Amino acid sequence: MRIAIVGTGYVGLVTAACFAELGHTVIGVDIDRKKIQKLSSGKSTIFEPGLEELIVHGLKGKRLSFTTDLQTTLHKVDIVFSAVATPQGKDHHADLSAVFTVTETVAASADHDILFVNKSTVPVGTGRECERRIADILRKRKKKIRIPVVSNPEFLREGMAVSDTIMPERIVIGINESTAAGVHEPLLRKGVAKSSINARALMENLYRPISRTGKPIIFMSRESAEIVKYASNAFLATKISFINMLAELTEKTGANIRDVALGMGLDSRIGHRFLHAGIGYGGSCFPKDVKALLATARQCGCDFGIIEATDSMNTRARERFFERILTFLPKKSTVGVWGLAFKPKTDDMREAPSLDLVSILIAAGHRIRAHDPATMENARKILPRGIRFCPSPLEAARGADALVLLTEWDEFRGVDLRELKKTMKGTDLFDGRNVYEPSAVKAAGLRYHGIGI
Ligand SMILES: NC(=O)c1ccc[n+]([C@@H]2O[C@H](COP(=O)([O-])OP(=O)(O)OC[C@H]3O[C@@H](n4cnc5c(N)ncnc54)[C@H](O)[C@@H]3O)[C@@H](O)[C@H]2O)c1
Repeated sequence: MRIAIVGTGYVGLVTAACFAELGHTVIGVDIDRKKIQKLSSGKSTIFEPGLEELIVHGLKGKRLSFTTDLQTTLHKVDIVFSAVATPQGKDHHADLSAVFTVTETVAASADHDILFVNKSTVPVGTGRECERRIADILRKRKKKIRIPVVSNPEFLREGMAVSDTIMPERIVIGINESTAAGVHEPLLRKGVAKSSINARALMENLYRPISRTGKPIIFMSRESAEIVKYASNAFLATKISFINMLAELTEKTGANIRDVALGMGLDSRIGHRFLHAGIGYGGSCFPKDVKALLATARQCGCDFGIIEATDSMNTRARERFFERILTFLPKKSTVGVWGLAFKPKTDDMREAPSLDLVSILIAAGHRIRAHDPATMENARKILPRGIRFCPSPLEAARGADALVLLTEWDEFRGVDLRELKKTMKGTDLFDGRNVYEPSAVKAAGLRYHGIGI
């Protein structure tokens, strides 16, 4: 099939490369000219394991190409995906301006029936609003073409994005009666002719290379699909905040949060995943999606007290850890920071704890030596000046009064703790992800500060 994917960021680029790998002809579209130039030369613009190989393979096989020209692209494809960002906007609502820009460009330029698929995370009702805007523009253009709007939320995890896309646990597709007909709902009621497009069949064909391996495609209404995405992220965030809440209690009572999590997680109804105490969730999705869901709930008059608590507990988890660090640090300390990205195996720094901590430490007069395996280039552009970026973990720890682990990259887990002790000046090790055994840290002559331990 011929597909355009608009927005070649963490989601759009992976989706484009994977669909091309699965045999579709894919055009990745972005407004960022530099990004398109780099991608066209076979270089990935993000750090994501396995992605660059797929980009090169797709380009060589002529199934994948990149452009900034959406208008021309629309004449060549059957399906257009919107995978643009939906960052936090006014009053915590998702900022949908990029989604609507793409929607309106498609409506203003398409010359044949085309399926519009929303892959961005958007609040419930956005599909309907896209459909309304499309109908308005087509009416003004006096164009008798149909552009049905489908919701197809994305569940990939950065760092695992390629395998998550090729082997997803589920594919959720939201199609309404109006979508199936390819017209805006009120027009459908007036009996306007149906589209030549069969949205469900197109989506089934598109995903066949994946669904034939047994991965389920679930069809539902567009509104339900839009909610599934926010509900999933808010649920996972709640699990994280729940264990971080208990970590405060285990600290105060001499219990150990790891044992508590182990004892809980072995119950198959609960499970171990997302039950690790730490400095809370960050990244480009959980913080903004939790807040956007709350904003939608408020707008609809629903009481989402559980999610409110999830959000505030996340702030508290981070603050508690930062306060502890500040309490222990002597004046004008040198602090080694391990991990700047919001999680391992990505270079994404959006809402990363490092952004807050580094600023707080610098404002308090401390010096920073930092290392991250993938995101030093990004970090240099975003973090305040005066940070010493070091080529290895031990270099970042050299002469440090204290070391703070913020991101649980594998290479930090297996570090030789005795070597680390020799490299540092001080002895405090702040483990923001509970990856070290306190007894091993102690045996190496370091002082351990974990969470809930
Ligand atoms: N990053 C994730 O792990 C993840 C996972 C699931 C869902 N999502 C959702 O997917 C969406 C995209 O997220 P992302 O992380 O890929 O964002 P991103 O910021 O990495 O990428 C967005 C891309 O869209 C481009 N863009 C913006 N406006 C454009 C326009 N008018 N025309 C063409 N290109 C345009 C930008 O230049 C950028 O390259 C968001 O709604 C997000 O919530 C993200």
